[in-house]
Amino acid sequence: VAFVENVQEMVRKDPSCIPERYIIKNHDDRPKIAPVALDVPVVDLSLLSEGNEEELKRLDLACTDWGFFQVLVIKNVIVSYEHLLEQVIQHDFQVINHGVAQEVLQRMKNTISSFFELPFEEKYKYAVMSPNVYGQAQSFVVTEEQKLDWADALLLKTDASYLEKLEYWPPGLKDAIETYSGEVNAVAKRLLCAISLTMGMDKESLQDMHKDALESLRVNYYPTCCMPHLVLGASPHSDVSSITILTQDDDITGLQIRHGEGWVSVKPIPNALVVNIGDVIEIWSNGKYKSIEHRAVTNKYKPRISVASFIMPSLDVELEPLDHMVDPLNPLKMYKKIKYEDYVMAFLKKKLEGKAHTKIA
Ligand code: SIN
Ligand code: FE2
Repeated sequence: VAFVENVQEMVRKDPSCIPERYIIKNHDDRPKIAPVALDVPVVDLSLLSEGNEEELKRLDLACTDWGFFQVLVIKNVIVSYEHLLEQVIQHDFQVINHGVAQEVLQRMKNTISSFFELPFEEKYKYAVMSPNVYGQAQSFVVTEEQKLDWADALLLKTDASYLEKLEYWPPGLKDAIETYSGEVNAVAKRLLCAISLTMGMDKESLQDMHKDALESLRVNYYPTCCMPHLVLGASPHSDVSSITILTQDDDITGLQIRHGEGWVSVKPIPNALVVNIGDVIEIWSNGKYKSIEHRAVTNKYKPRISVASFIMPSLDVELEPLDHMVDPLNPLKMYKKIKYEDYVMAFLKKKLEGKAHTKIA
């Protein structure tokens, strides 16, 4: 692994400095202000859980057309679904009524931002003691010359067997993350049930396919950048997960997804969770559901934090399109059978460069 500097620390020392390695050479690849997507689907998780046909249809369309949606935190907050729909969109794919308590979400966000406000030495000290990782998106740094993302990351494994390893981290952080990932897992389970149904399987199918599932959490910290049009906070990629559940700052837009011909921005809805389909579901569904390429842009004014929870099957699962998703109308696409572990390793070894890794054959 090549050495990379801590971006937050670099900006603190000299906000005007943008080392060559962060600058995107190809002008077409540089970020532009993308139009805000006003028509990303909204899904009500409580209706999905009741097996509501219309809601399941909405979910199916969202996974097919967008690969992305948002889930609103509704517990303790009364927001009518109609009102939300009016406000946000026509075919929006966000999940509402997902049941993660607002205060759990808020506490996690507050704790994470206080963590990033600690002096670098302090954060680094925790990182050295812990089997988890704090620093640049290191897994993707392959060579000394490679272009770098304008972000630092905190990577934590959050399956039960790993949670105790969080003991190395500040106690508040451990607590907040434990509670949050517990609630997010509950949301993930309910979403997997709903997606099983929309994929024409028994309700429990996808859950069964996630026995000994891996869970990990990636906190992205995007420092401000004095020339945000020259760098990317996260290079374009699709996620190797089954699904990813993302929490982001309420007041800063940074996530862009590929839709149609170009990039669109996903405007944060306060207390919402953004959900996207990952490569695993794309492969299992034989390409019906899309693992959409996305990226993160930076801004001059305010650092941005996002927290991504990755729900993944166990590493020994053999990935290939499910039999019932292959028929004369949907013949076998480009997905060759591959062990999930090999798939993940191939992804980690490569630098982030779009979605090419999905197309193995
Ligand atoms: C990512 O998916 O890698 C980051 C997304 C975000 O920060 O919004
Ligand atoms: Fe991602």
